[in-house]
Amino acid sequence: MKKTLVLKVSPVRPKIEVIRVAARIIQNGGLVAFPTETVYGLGVDALNPKAVKAMFKAKKRPPDNPPIIHVADKNDVYMLAKKVPKEAEKLMEAFWPGPLTVILERSKLVPDVTVAGLSTVAIRMPRHKVALALIRESKTPIAAPSANLAGRPSPTTAEHVLKDLNGRIDMVLDGGPTRIGVESTVIDLTVKPPQILRPGGTTYEKLVKVLKKVELHPVAVADKKVKILWARSPGVKHRHYAPRAKLILVEGQRKEKVVEKIQELADKFMREGKKTGVLATDETAGGYRADVVKSLGSRRNLRTVAKRLFLCLREFDEDKVEVILAEGVPLKGLGLAVMNRLRKASGYTIVKADED
Ligand code: TXA
Ligand code: MG
Repeated sequence: MKKTLVLKVSPVRPKIEVIRVAARIIQNGGLVAFPTETVYGLGVDALNPKAVKAMFKAKKRPPDNPPIIHVADKNDVYMLAKKVPKEAEKLMEAFWPGPLTVILERSKLVPDVTVAGLSTVAIRMPRHKVALALIRESKTPIAAPSANLAGRPSPTTAEHVLKDLNGRIDMVLDGGPTRIGVESTVIDLTVKPPQILRPGGTTYEKLVKVLKKVELHPVAVADKKVKILWARSPGVKHRHYAPRAKLILVEGQRKEKVVEKIQELADKFMREGKKTGVLATDETAGGYRADVVKSLGSRRNLRTVAKRLFLCLREFDEDKVEVILAEGVPLKGLGLAVMNRLRKASGYTIVKADED
């Protein structure tokens, strides 16, 4: 066990003295959790193999799943990548800093462990003053996966980070809750047309406007387990975002059908004596009978839904709920990212409400 230092920092005007404490830890090979606009990241010096290994260990992350390298200056991309195609430049221009990660051919500068032995590298520039200041002061690109134990929901507050990693990392910069709440979109630019490997904070609709042609990798939109022979994004193989409770996702075109199905299932689980939770939306939450009912927000405001998703999943754990019945949301805008996380969290236990 280490002592994990927690320092508060303003997300709008971060004090340089606080940032410097964190930067010194990074430069010495230590582990610092910090806020980004999406979720908290667990940062280490991307060019220090020992530090990267320590990060994998602290998170209990499988060593075949590489982190994203965070930069504060576009020039660093030309150092970390062997070539930077036109599409990448367009995307960086349009969306950086912001919740978009690009996959490019890696350069020799990047240590093997940082990319888990792949020939490609994942890079993004976060839109958060604390993250950007930390990268600049550390004077090195920062490798940072989400700052949760592997498999758990990503952390959107410093409290979530501490719940998973207190005593396992050197420091947390507490910059308050994150704004977006789901992780960045990961887009592979080493293939043609570019392919979205993980839907996230930058929507498909926005990407199409800039790139004309973009594909969604089958795994990114799968509603059942896709057999993966060779995963380009290693993360897709592992169970993810999972609360301790069993999560069942109920999908359907018609809201009324979804509500009916969830209530039927909730009644069944409660009869069996299981503590049952419903993950609902503002439009439906009032109508359920269950042990715990939580609303993600209005179905018409997917931003709020995305922002509250991981928080709600973690709260069900705090309430010791054993089964969570979750409503599906529309597959557009941020809804695509939300559904991708819910489907994975369910381990693809999905009930289609329209089909009976
Ligand atoms: O918003 C985010 O992206 C957050 C914040 C902290 O920036 N980070 C994050 O990192 O979600 P992580 O490690 O939890 O997810 C990174 C994803 C994984 O699915 C991983 O497999 C994929 O990016 N990835 C990393 N390097 C890759 C590569 N070379 N090729 C394909 N996928 C890669
Ligand atoms: Mg993660």
